Amino acid sequence: SRFLMILGRTTLATIVVAGGTFWYVTQKNRHPGKQLPLDSTKKTVVVIGSGWGATSWLRNVDNTEFNVIVISPKNYFLFTPLLPSVAVGTLSPRSILQPTRFVTRHKPRQVQVIEAEATDVDPVNKTVTFADNTPIKGAVSATTIPYDYLVYAPGAEVQTFNIPGIKEKACFMKELGDAERLQDRFMDCLESAAFPGQSDAEIDRLLHVVVVGGGPTGIEVAGEFHDFLEDDLKAWYPELAQHIRITLVEALPSVLPMFSKQLIDFTETSFKESKIDIMTKTMVKEVKDESVVLQMPDKSIVEVPCGVVVWAAGNRQRAITMNLMKKLGAEQDNRRGLLVDDYMQVKGSGGSIYAIGDVTATSYAPTAQVASQEGAYLARVFSQMGKKDALERRLADLRTEEAKALGTPEAAKAHSEEIESVSSALQKVKIRPFSYSHQGSLAYIGSEKAIADLPFMNGNIASGGVATYLFWRSAYLTTLFSLRNRTLVAVDWMRTKVFGRDVSRE
Ligand code: FAD
Ligand code: NAI
Repeated sequence: SRFLMILGRTTLATIVVAGGTFWYVTQKNRHPGKQLPLDSTKKTVVVIGSGWGATSWLRNVDNTEFNVIVISPKNYFLFTPLLPSVAVGTLSPRSILQPTRFVTRHKPRQVQVIEAEATDVDPVNKTVTFADNTPIKGAVSATTIPYDYLVYAPGAEVQTFNIPGIKEKACFMKELGDAERLQDRFMDCLESAAFPGQSDAEIDRLLHVVVVGGGPTGIEVAGEFHDFLEDDLKAWYPELAQHIRITLVEALPSVLPMFSKQLIDFTETSFKESKIDIMTKTMVKEVKDESVVLQMPDKSIVEVPCGVVVWAAGNRQRAITMNLMKKLGAEQDNRRGLLVDDYMQVKGSGGSIYAIGDVTATSYAPTAQVASQEGAYLARVFSQMGKKDALERRLADLRTEEAKALGTPEAAKAHSEEIESVSSALQKVKIRPFSYSHQGSLAYIGSEKAIADLPFMNGNIASGGVATYLFWRSAYLTTLFSLRNRTLVAVDWMRTKVFGRDVSRE
């Protein structure tokens, strides 16, 4: 009984300490301290975007020496790796969002956050034009502002290859609204299939989900839909569940080309067991209201009835980026995106525009991992530049004082010592080129299985299965930017495990 008493007390003490720490951290984050005001004598950095690249920059930068203005049509950061989980209700949409002001309110100097879409960048006059494209607008809804430096991170948009019907009839998986629209459309199909008198052929059509693109996005969406079917729909729609079919269409000979052969095989076998059809060497040619038109491996054309088409066929650059590339001239000749040097400076911009993330054409894949490392690197560059600016200003002030008579010999000595120390500090400010450190690739494939290609001792280890799934969950939980999001996602996972996913339509 003595042992039980000690155990009880230790447990209680642990709960009190952990609870107290949790409370202290959350409250400190909720009520950040005072910030320095914007300062017209400092240079202005305009940041375009609030995604992986921009948010990583904002989190890491020391903005004491700059006025920072963020422009993005979304006033939040979206944790894209968990977006497919929102589409089937495993996670609530708000659990994977972080308001940009939650980041900027913790910076040393105030940051201006503007919810607007940048429509034009003028690299000659160094200005950005932007507009409020939301339904409610004030008297002013478009304007142009100057910048000294531009951190350009608007990401990419969905590549449609101008295939007929994609934009109007398919669901994307890029923004939060896309996941919500997909959930709504699928639930609508399900309830329409439950409408009395529906023929079997019509039920089959309504409940056929076609996912286009065998990259990680398409694979994760198909895996999440399969979980929804197995864990929830079989219980709540028992008479319809057997009609639900998931087909993944991929133009290349295999899915997931960025993963090792072993993991591709593992995924294909797992999908087969889960009864997800994979159609490789098959290209979508058109999306119609009630079907998708496919070009089969033998080049024949087949029209497949379906209720939902999810389009996850990759990225292309946004119109604003294509225009900027044209304005920057001959140095920007890569259609994949903006060319940057080893310091993330945009070629042809004269050193005032930096670009990070999916908007760039580099040797790295367009991933969150790359964008966030580039953002953190560029933040260090700006912190160094700010430090350099401050030292240069101090040196100029000291030299001005020198021109005036310096009273006593002691004052003159102290003055020359300070000049020496500031000059030496200035020489130590070194800006190194960006280098990427690959932490591995991870993807969820459904049925509580994930795949991982991880760098290990100059080689790679490939792993797939339930243990990898637990690793996937813990890796994403730690990668989430804030304690608030980690808590919300963990609670959602628990809610789904205990109560299942919600099947009501809003
Ligand atoms: P984004 O994160 O897309 O951010 C762009 C920002 O710019 C957004 O805030 C947008 O609102 C804003 N913006 C757009 N247009 C304008 C404009 N005109 N003016 C101002 N602002 C603008 N990568 C991984 O490494 N691991 C994963 O597990 C992973 N999973 C993914 C899952 C899904 C479903 C998707 C779609 C992508 C996933 N990715 C993953 C890829 C990753 O999300 C991208 O590579 C990453 O978001 C790129 O970061 P970015 O900052 O360049 O662009
Ligand atoms: P993707 O470019 O990786 O894959 C798109 C796929 O669609 C390609 O395989 C392409 O062959 C196929 N496709 C294109 N047109 C088609 C057509 N008409 N018919 C049939 N198939 C067609 O795109 P995705 O998956 O959206 O990924 C984009 C980026 O985000 C990648 O860099 C990826 O690595 C990253 N990402 C990473 C994740 C992870 O690490 N877990 C998850 C999601 C995305």
